[in-house]
Amino acid sequence: MNVTSAVFDRSSQKVSQIPSGGLPEFAFIGRSNVGKSSLINMLTGRPTLAKVSGTPGKTRLINHFLINDSWYLVDLPGYGYARVSKADRQGFSQLITGYIRKSPSLVFLFVLVDSRHEPQKIDLEFINFLGENSIPFGIVFTKADKLGPGKVKTNIETYGRKLLETWEELPPMFVTSSEKKQGRDEILGFIDQCLTDLHKGEE
Ligand code: GTP
Ligand code: MG
Repeated sequence: MNVTSAVFDRSSQKVSQIPSGGLPEFAFIGRSNVGKSSLINMLTGRPTLAKVSGTPGKTRLINHFLINDSWYLVDLPGYGYARVSKADRQGFSQLITGYIRKSPSLVFLFVLVDSRHEPQKIDLEFINFLGENSIPFGIVFTKADKLGPGKVKTNIETYGRKLLETWEELPPMFVTSSEKKQGRDEILGFIDQCLTDLHKGEE
């Protein structure tokens, strides 16, 4: 799929503010600093579309970007950032869980995890929450450029084994590097396929 246009649509601090036009939404979630905003910029080929920062907790609102005038990429706030106040942290999680549960146009959620790390409790808990709520999701391993290919492969296998302790089958998985533009065709191709399936369902 070609991204011919990518424009910022809005930031929402409440679920009631998100777009209501019914266009399909593909959202990105994960721990703070995992690389959600960088991935959105890499996928769209617009390096400054979503704000990137070395300081965790940059994205605090739900940001909708309209792609090709027909669907949205959604940048969600990071979870698990300990340095914000407890009240703020609860606010984030309510915003995130509220969006995930209530957004009728959410088609697929990409859960980002850092490819360098072992499976983290907070991510596994989040994935279980998705399962309990029947939310279609996949896993995106980020920052693959920071590891050798062999190590990336072993870490993904470890992740898969961990998930199979709870799940019967593995979700779609993507290996990415925003730095090296790795994984772009796979993710955009996957979204394209989801959009095609949606349109078939409507016929
Ligand atoms: P919050 O909005 O704070 O939750 O963070 P985020 O998940 O949106 O992360 P962001 O895209 O802002 O990136 C965090 C840091 O990681 C930045 O310093 C990025 O430059 C860096 N980063 C993101 N993706 C990659 C990648 O693929 N490779 C490398 N080497 N660095 C990356
Ligand atoms: Mg961000």
